[in-house]
Amino acid sequence: MIKRKNIIKIAIDSPAGAGAGTLGKALSKHYNLFYLDTGKIYRFIAYLNLRYPKKFNYQFIKYKIKSLKVKDLANKTLLTNEVGIKASVISKKKKIRKIVHLFQINFAYNPPNKYKGSCLDGRDITYNIVPDADFKFFITANLKTRALRRYKELKTINNKITYYEVLKSIKIRDKNDYNRKIAPLKKTKDSLLINTTNLNKRACFLKIKKIIDRKLNN
Ligand code: C5P
Repeated sequence: MIKRKNIIKIAIDSPAGAGAGTLGKALSKHYNLFYLDTGKIYRFIAYLNLRYPKKFNYQFIKYKIKSLKVKDLANKTLLTNEVGIKASVISKKKKIRKIVHLFQINFAYNPPNKYKGSCLDGRDITYNIVPDADFKFFITANLKTRALRRYKELKTINNKITYYEVLKSIKIRDKNDYNRKIAPLKKTKDSLLINTTNLNKRACFLKIKKIIDRKLNN
């Protein structure tokens, strides 16, 4: 695999709804980094499982991931609650994580030349995918805040959804993600903990920008 030299790499891990995606996007735009929401890949595989239950096997997943383009991940069908829960189930499987691994590594270490680097967010990015990242963050917020944020987002694509449904699904996913044997969600010692419960998007971005700029300008 080709690794580009002298690029900036940002790794973010977080539970669902903590604001990692929003932050990752804002940082990527500001620092001109190639951004990947890695959860979307697991969601894509979960979607394949729901859509093609009979065809669904490792060969099929490999084939689909090979031709996967970043823009395919913007598909709205990947955002649903159902797909999210399924993603947290299929992502426990070692073989599936292995297939996704290569896609992520390529993305992180070999972003297109027009970018200055990469920014990935997920559950195992800081210690499994980009362990040598220049900046590592663990973004969190309390359960109710995270559920409310996700609820507001999901409401725009499904007006029947209730807050309690979303709360329940976030609890299930937290349990799955923190407790699984392979690549569980955890904060590494070298990641900076940011609690966004009482921080709005802008405040969160500015707080992290300050930290990054301090190191970059040194
Ligand atoms: O981030 P998002 O909520 O879209 O992720 C969906 C699911 O994908 C998570 O609940 C988690 O189980 C899985 N995931 C993972 N590793 C990552 C990113 C997401 O296992 N790096």
